Amino acid sequence: MKKPSFHILVCNSYRISGEAQGACNKKGAQSMIQYFTENVADRGLDAVVSATGCLNVCTQGPVVVVHPQNLWYGGITTEEQMDEILDAIESGGVATQYLISE
Ligand code: FES
Repeated sequence: MKKPSFHILVCNSYRISGEAQGACNKKGAQSMIQYFTENVADRGLDAVVSATGCLNVCTQGPVVVVHPQNLWYGGITTEEQMDEILDAIESGGVATQYLISE
């Protein structure tokens, strides 16, 4: 199996019960999965997009984590913001304005 170069994790607030309920999901994180997935494909990025359970920084959600750089982005709600994260991945940079951790 060939590993992808990037992994985009999008918090969807899943709980142990399997339900998606929590801050990120309530702020529209579910639609972010589709947007990221479609745009990763459109851009031809070697990246996988995954929905996650709560990442325990709910007040800063919706939260997006990009590996392998371990970049934690918060307050991502618009397509423009998601595009900036994808631009950063594509260029090897960082969308510093949305970082919630160093
Ligand atoms: S629900 Fe997303 S960080 Fe907790």
